[in-house]
Amino acid sequence: MIDNLTNNALFDGIKPFEKKIWLSSPTMHGEEQKWVNEAIKTNWVSTVGTNINETEKGIANYIGCEYAVALSTGTAALHLATKLAGEQLYGQARANRGTLESKKVFCSDMTFDASINPVAYENGEAVFIDTEQDTWNMDPEALEKAFEIYPDVKLVVVAHLYGTPAKMSEIKRICDAHSALIVEDAAESLGAKYRLDGKWVETGTLGDYNCISFNGNKIITGSAGGMFLTNSKDDADKVRKWSTQSREAAPWYQHEEIGYNYRMSNIVAGVVRGQMPHLEEHISQKKAIWERYKEGFKDLPVKMNPWDEKNSKPNFWLSCMTINEDAMAPFVRGEKDELWIHEAGKSSPGEILAALGAFNAEGRPIWKPMHMQPIYRNNAFVIKEGNGRGQTNAYITGGKCEDVGADVFRRGLCLPSDNKMTVEEQEIVIEIVRRCFR
Ligand SMILES: Cc1ncc(COP(=O)(O)O)c(C=O)c1O
Repeated sequence: MIDNLTNNALFDGIKPFEKKIWLSSPTMHGEEQKWVNEAIKTNWVSTVGTNINETEKGIANYIGCEYAVALSTGTAALHLATKLAGEQLYGQARANRGTLESKKVFCSDMTFDASINPVAYENGEAVFIDTEQDTWNMDPEALEKAFEIYPDVKLVVVAHLYGTPAKMSEIKRICDAHSALIVEDAAESLGAKYRLDGKWVETGTLGDYNCISFNGNKIITGSAGGMFLTNSKDDADKVRKWSTQSREAAPWYQHEEIGYNYRMSNIVAGVVRGQMPHLEEHISQKKAIWERYKEGFKDLPVKMNPWDEKNSKPNFWLSCMTINEDAMAPFVRGEKDELWIHEAGKSSPGEILAALGAFNAEGRPIWKPMHMQPIYRNNAFVIKEGNGRGQTNAYITGGKCEDVGADVFRRGLCLPSDNKMTVEEQEIVIEIVRRCFR
């Protein structure tokens, strides 16, 4: 470890940022206040109101789907999407049971746990599908392999990590061949586009059940919030009903289904409404950040987070990088802490994140893959060669097990990607990273 990073000769001449540079923080523009004020002035502050209606209409129009249902969080949207899929596949569950009881579900492995926890909420069992190096998303080859191992599986949860679309043409073709449904988690990718059958479409239209998030760190925010997106009126009606405690048409509180308090408030919807006109502007700011990093690191032994340039247009929500294997300085991680040492010409995610932190800039490790999380350690994990667990043998040397998610997690990191970071500030961030390789 390098003690006292800010005084270390490696970083001579660089001063800590006075104002913190964030990974990705909310960016308010002013119109949000107008719609929030209107909700308060007119007394429509609960889960009904013009902001909700306009936000749902605006997002459905933008995305190109028939219905958008505004919910309290992206997690709520994913829960109800997963439950709808479970109910369609396996029927209505008893009140104290999930719709996926004892069923396996194929899930993106390199994602935030909110993508896939709803499988557990519904008593299902996630089987994690390894990542591919081209987009850092679900590997279609590993998915194909998973259907060979578990041919009965009928549901797949796919996320678009860091705003980069997954290889949805291949994933949809494989799912169709196995009559499996898709829950699409577009929480991080609002505004990202994908070329499906030669036509450009938005992420959030690519699954059977689709979700976005307006969490504070997302490309636009409502302070919180999420949406369920669909072309099915029945599904939209069902999600709206479940999200408001599943009331039946009776004069009293009458319930035939389990309900949730998951609806978006008209205040939160006011913030989203004010943010919507700024989505494209945020995307181009994020894209410029990604491109400046790429240029700034072009002679370093690193790679920026990749995407399928022919078939996708990411929203560049987070800029990330991996360090080439031969430029990795010694670096080990435990469950909750890590150790690194500096070596000339090399670096590690631990060292770079420590240096950024010391100069008051926020980076983050790559999202730790789900199959490595203690809570999911006993769940199956499928790589493109087959079973991703137990791939070595104490009595046989060799035996390559390519766990792409673990590799990207070990060599990668998320860089400060805040759209309010100035060009000058980003140049300093780039210089801090460059000095780590001296
Ligand atoms: C991939 C992914 N899925 C789901 C979520 C959950 O969204 P929310 O925070 O709105 O519940 C997030 C982020 O928060 C996310 O990054």
